[in-house]
Amino acid sequence: MFRSLLKRTTFLNQLNKSNGFNRNYFKQSTLTRSDALSRHVETEDNNEHTPFDFTQENLVKVEKILAKYPKQYRQSALIPLLDLAQRQNGGWISLRAMDKVAHICGIAPMTAYEVASFYTMFNRTKIGENFVQVCTTTPCMLRGSGEIIKTCKSHLGIQVGETTPDNKFTLVEVECLGACVNAPMMCINDDFYEDLTSASTINLLDQIKNNKPTKIGPQTHRKAAEGPQGKTTLLEPPVGPTCRDDL
Ligand code: FES
Repeated sequence: MFRSLLKRTTFLNQLNKSNGFNRNYFKQSTLTRSDALSRHVETEDNNEHTPFDFTQENLVKVEKILAKYPKQYRQSALIPLLDLAQRQNGGWISLRAMDKVAHICGIAPMTAYEVASFYTMFNRTKIGENFVQVCTTTPCMLRGSGEIIKTCKSHLGIQVGETTPDNKFTLVEVECLGACVNAPMMCINDDFYEDLTSASTINLLDQIKNNKPTKIGPQTHRKAAEGPQGKTTLLEPPVGPTCRDDL
């Protein structure tokens, strides 16, 4: 259906041009390779014979995660267990790691593959040491995420979906990461960097490359997500319980 719509639009655009109108019905967004990490690519270190098992330390965490769900709903632990497997595996999840998680949850391996392919938090192929996710959803786009992507591409010398030759960085575009109020932003590994400009993006990438400490959060004088007038609501200290337990 999308193809026939595209054909029709291309035809209308050409018709417009041949009639002397310089107007397009709609523009196609740039083709990106962010989904390159959500597909299985058979490699020497990712095939059905590549072994995977949780470490003893992580097996304790597996039990802790499973204990949060009723025994008959073990499959509810699928996402946290995939996350744990991915962290153990260096930021990406292999075929055998997904099989292991599926086995623990008592579900078909295909269900684990589907979930790992759907969520951008999971990478099904190897990534670099630092996983750079630049948000390009509307608020970030309106605040200049296009420039941030351009900066990352030119500074790292790679395209979206690629890894630098020194294996230091992998760059992807992602949808909203929930820090819109401090747009534009990017997430590198587990840290958010917000209120970005081209200059602060370059600075951060260089600091990370040289193993120097970075300033997490807003790269301006803004405190957390406060507006220009500072904090005007929620003036009391937050009370528990917090929604997440530390593993
Ligand atoms: S739109 Fe970028 S964080 Fe929400």
